[in-house]
Amino acid sequence: LAYQHTRFIMSAPTLAHCPADTGAEVAFAGRSNAGKSSAINTLTRQKALARTSKTPGRTQLINLFAVGDDDHRIVDLPGYGFAKVPEEVKRKWQHHLSEYLHGRQSLRGIVLMMDIRHPLTEFDQQMLAWADEADMPVHILLTKSDKLKRGAAKNELLRVRRALHEWEDMVTVQLFSSHTKSGIDELEKRLNQ
Ligand code: GTP
Ligand code: MG
Repeated sequence: LAYQHTRFIMSAPTLAHCPADTGAEVAFAGRSNAGKSSAINTLTRQKALARTSKTPGRTQLINLFAVGDDDHRIVDLPGYGFAKVPEEVKRKWQHHLSEYLHGRQSLRGIVLMMDIRHPLTEFDQQMLAWADEADMPVHILLTKSDKLKRGAAKNELLRVRRALHEWEDMVTVQLFSSHTKSGIDELEKRLNQ
């Protein structure tokens, strides 16, 4: 697929507002501020297709993008975790997120972003458990890998792979940096699968 030809379709507050549930969709998930929106911009070679921010909780809607035709989509999900929003709003997001993940028929897999400096949080574990239950493949991006020296980043990659080896082929892990644009080819290959 030509990821540079990705365009915005719409922002949906809930699953019910999402466009027709046909074709194939991959969702980008992860903690707030992990670098989900940045990864989508890096993958699509566009500066501001998905909105990024220093403030956690920037993405509050289910944002859908079409890769080429409307039947291949990537989705930027609201981050889970420490967004500075009231408890009640947070609970609502969790609800909409879980509804989307469980109810979206065209969902084929999850790209799970984790800041390489804090991988495998409790929320990440929850997402992995859910994906396992739903037989959904997960591809983990250890984002902001530019923040560590090359050797340290490699070690972290091996450590996370080892921690997840019980999931075998259902969970794959790679290094990624939107700043240095490293890891795009590996991500594209996995998405194409
Ligand atoms: P929410 O929408 O709030 O859930 O956040 P998000 O996961 O979409 O994160 P976003 O892409 O907005 O990035 C959050 C912050 O991390 C921004 O300040 C980015 O510039 C920074 N960031 C993202 N990717 C990288 C990276 O590869 N390297 C470095 N150093 N910083 C990054
Ligand atoms: Mg975002």
